[in-house]
Amino acid sequence: TTPLRLGIAGLGTVGVGVVKIIRQKANLLAQRTGRPVVITAVSARSKDKDRGVNLEQYAWETDPVALAQRDDVDVFVELMGGDNGPAKASIEAAIAAGKDVVTANKALLAHHGQAIAAAAEEKSCVVRYEAAVAGGIPVIKALTEGLAGNDITRVMGVMNGTCNYILTRMQDAGLPYDAVFAEADALGYLEADPNLDVGGIDAGHKLALLASIAFGTQVSFDKMELEGIQRISIEDIKLAADMGFKIKLLGVAQLTGRGLEQRMTPCLVPEESPLGQLKGGTNMVVIEGDAVEQVVLRGPGAGEGPTASAVVGDICDVARGFRYPTFGIPANELAVPTPATSNSP
Ligand code: NAP
Ligand code: HSE
Repeated sequence: TTPLRLGIAGLGTVGVGVVKIIRQKANLLAQRTGRPVVITAVSARSKDKDRGVNLEQYAWETDPVALAQRDDVDVFVELMGGDNGPAKASIEAAIAAGKDVVTANKALLAHHGQAIAAAAEEKSCVVRYEAAVAGGIPVIKALTEGLAGNDITRVMGVMNGTCNYILTRMQDAGLPYDAVFAEADALGYLEADPNLDVGGIDAGHKLALLASIAFGTQVSFDKMELEGIQRISIEDIKLAADMGFKIKLLGVAQLTGRGLEQRMTPCLVPEESPLGQLKGGTNMVVIEGDAVEQVVLRGPGAGEGPTASAVVGDICDVARGFRYPTFGIPANELAVPTPATSNSP
């Protein structure tokens, strides 16, 4: 049988996690997909960095675009991050060269998903990005595959583990925002640009991708109502607790008579509800559909193992030949969403 050959660009937290799973579970993956899944080439900025895994057997490319174009690469696995720059250039190069793409890059897809999806479909390539939303939770597969028979009525949830950690610590330890922010920083939880986390932007990227799949609309991150957690005070937390509520950075996407509503904002949720009970870096996504009623998915939203788990799941999909469009329906059939604004009639 023909092996599926991977080129992995980005050997940080997620990239190294993926290399480990592909190596350690070679037999299992071959059994599950019906073919060997092998890494042929890798790329990162520094060749000399000790990454805790032996990479000597793989070809090295310092330029991820060159990696994406290699003849011995069938699937380009982009794990560098960034909504532009090398991630965008190399994914575009991979698609132009007819390669399938697996990525964890929510920022890139939230901004350029429509163009990437259209380019991929033009070249009959697939783009998979399960790890981009809610880390280890297979929420994109749930929407595109398991729930394909539903009209989705609402998607909501907690999709940024760092914000959930900060809010939970403020609630449980009674500590002010600044102290817990410093703690999260020391633990290495924050993105390089912390505003992506605490400004609600990272979670907004994720919700925009889910809304596109759920409602068959073009990704519309720019039209989302967005508010972060920076202004939540310990007094807000205490007041909410007195009334039996917790404050969560909650995303909600739904089609209303006024158009597509997408909000990622701090919300009060009942303390005893599953969302109210959600602690630390855990994510939770609630999907409502006309036939299924409600499905609740809960799990780790970040970290080496959970995120690599989602990336490898996507690689297995490609190995098995699952070839549906990036956002579930063809890119040119995605509707332009009418955003529901607060002044809509
Ligand atoms: P990371 O630890 O910062 O690793 C990034 C990797 O990309 C590094 O190996 C870096 O090389 C490489 N890189 C950066 N710029 C490059 C360039 N111009 N050319 C070649 N290589 C380059 O990031 P990460 O946490 O693994 O995240 C990777 C992606 O997964 C991002 O899109 C992120 O949003 C997404 N994601 C991460 C998590 C998580 O828990 N970490 C969860 C969900 C999704 P060097 O090592 O040589 O510097
Ligand atoms: N910064 C993100 C979070 C990483 O805290 O959820 C996973 O996307």
